[in-house]
Amino acid sequence: MTTQPNSGWQPGMKIVGPVSEMTTLDLATMASTPIYKLLIGAIVPRPIALVSTMDEAGVVNLAPFSFFNGVSSVPPCLVLSVTRRPNGAKKDTLLNIEKSGQFVVNTVADWMAEPMNHCSAEYPNGVSEMEKAGFTPLASVKVRPPRVKESPVHMECELHKLVEIGNGEVGSAVIIVGKILMMHIHAPAYENGKIKLEEIAPLSRLSGLNYGRTREIFELPRPKI
Ligand SMILES: Cc1cc2nc3c(=O)[nH]c(=O)nc-3n(C[C@H](O)[C@H](O)[C@H](O)COP(=O)(O)O)c2cc1C
Repeated sequence: MTTQPNSGWQPGMKIVGPVSEMTTLDLATMASTPIYKLLIGAIVPRPIALVSTMDEAGVVNLAPFSFFNGVSSVPPCLVLSVTRRPNGAKKDTLLNIEKSGQFVVNTVADWMAEPMNHCSAEYPNGVSEMEKAGFTPLASVKVRPPRVKESPVHMECELHKLVEIGNGEVGSAVIIVGKILMMHIHAPAYENGKIKLEEIAPLSRLSGLNYGRTREIFELPRPKI
């Protein structure tokens, strides 16, 4: 644990920070690639979902997604955003989820960085990134796609809703809302209904090709008014 940034702060007190002059951009005048760079630079850090799906022939697909988050507890749901490929095609993860309605989100720990990144390579349809990256498949309980043994948290999901964003051109996306059916947690990380951060060592995606380990944690109690 480290100390909080402004331990003497009281409600209403001005904080001293470096922000003064701003660069202002109108996104309506910008192309998709520079907008993408702004999004991944500004919305940081992002958690990474390593998503396993299965095609109709039973081939396992595995790919990382950092436009990812949890959104509700009742029903327990998470979201992923799958963008179009540069040639406009849909990614295998989306195609498989559209057809099967099932997927597994495996969280990504420090120790998984390199093989996780390898799973983002554009292998042709029908090739299993699980095998190519060297990850170990582990049978799921309620869905067909397997889990990733090396990952500390596995969430078996069924498709809740697909939300089209844009009109299918490059830069547009489909948001996948998944209902979490089962959760499997690295046993030493689970105690009294809570997950111990140090045991799941979350890796985050930053801007460009940068990643972050989760370090220098501090605690901040919620305000009581
Ligand atoms: C850390 C990381 C995060 C990524 N996040 C996303 C994302 O949020 N959305 C997306 O469409 N692609 C994302 N990608 C790229 C996909 O992983 C890549 O396009 C992959 O080939 C898709 O595989 P698929 O066709 O098997 O679904 C990310 C790649 C990496 C390495």
